[in-house]
Amino acid sequence: MKKLLLSLIISTIAIQAFAQGNSYKQGTGKFEGLAMTPPMGWNSWNTFATNIDEKLVKETADIMVSSGMAAAGYNYIVLDDGWMAKERDENGNLVADPIKFPNGMKVLIDYVHSKGLKFGLYNCAGTRTCAGYPGTRGFEYQDARFYANLGIDFLKYDWCNTAGINAPEAYATMSNALKTAGRPIVFSLCEWGDNNPWDWAKPIGNLWRISGDIYPCFDCEFKHPENWSSWGFMKIVEMRKDIRKFSGPDHWNDFDMMEVGNEMTGIEDRSHFAMWCMMASPLIAGNDFRKMKPETLAILTNKNLIAINQDKLGIQGFKLTVEDGVEVWVKPLSDGAWALTFLNRTELAKKINFDWKKNSIKDVDFGYEADFNKTIFKIKDLWKNKEVGTTKKNFTADIVPHDVITLKLIP
Ligand code: GLA
Repeated sequence: MKKLLLSLIISTIAIQAFAQGNSYKQGTGKFEGLAMTPPMGWNSWNTFATNIDEKLVKETADIMVSSGMAAAGYNYIVLDDGWMAKERDENGNLVADPIKFPNGMKVLIDYVHSKGLKFGLYNCAGTRTCAGYPGTRGFEYQDARFYANLGIDFLKYDWCNTAGINAPEAYATMSNALKTAGRPIVFSLCEWGDNNPWDWAKPIGNLWRISGDIYPCFDCEFKHPENWSSWGFMKIVEMRKDIRKFSGPDHWNDFDMMEVGNEMTGIEDRSHFAMWCMMASPLIAGNDFRKMKPETLAILTNKNLIAINQDKLGIQGFKLTVEDGVEVWVKPLSDGAWALTFLNRTELAKKINFDWKKNSIKDVDFGYEADFNKTIFKIKDLWKNKEVGTTKKNFTADIVPHDVITLKLIP
């Protein structure tokens, strides 16, 4: 009898333990559908680095709405590196820097949300962030709960101080942690393309950086003394033009936060923006909204260009041809239309004389075609916002160095 009772007790405990083990639900895979078109917003890093605070964020959110940026589609305010205190608290929780954010992060997030905007934060898969703040390594589930409780909508997750860490595993762990925490948060991988995230990140992330950091120049390489480089925007485009088939709705190749309105000429800003639209890159502004010139605002809120970027097919464009140093980039759009950008990569003024009949388009990665011998397209100049003829005749124009002409071809 005693034996029977004992085995009954043991098996009851075993069943309970088994049931408990089974009832723990770990989420896997990203939150689907959070970024069906490339995310648009603002990130603090390019202009402010770690010099960020509550006032800056509130003013940026205010201007995002009052300037028309929000109406144009920009809705994420993302705080990059430098938002945290140097150490976690006694329970291992992250803490917002009490001097930069005297009222804490929650109040600020509620403020941004009250403006109809979304809010993002930054951390890093390593032991420390790139700027030396507490990294998430070993705290993935705790940090994910922290973010979910705060109510953030976007997490940028960087790749500094990760010696010996396996990238696909580290990013999958954080993705699962976010899923388990239960709040839909866009997961933005910032692994710089070192381990080809386009090969493995689609199930776990909504966007992934494909290069090292951008630099506010047209086509330069900026070598840092510590032996790494930042890249002019055309360098990034060129570097990653061949991974277009890995990008699409909810899984974007991220060409980095924009430098529009920072140190380049107005012409280069236009080209930079046009190329980010052509590449279906996330459009994350990186300038100081409080000092934004009307020309910069006009570029960033150009509805015609944004429509190219946000087109629901979500296809990254490609280089069709180069004529006398003028590159021709094309991007298939929904409803049979195409975006086409002439970009003068040279230092000389050029004359464009583009013969459509000799330049029919075949997109071998996605199977779209434009045969200019069979179909005539109406041409709309997207910067001038007007129709400029059809593909019956050659397209002719003058183009100054580093400038773009962006067209929409409508069948
Ligand atoms: C890395 C990232 C940048 C920025 C900084 C912050 O360099 O690539 O975008 O987040 O870290 O330290």
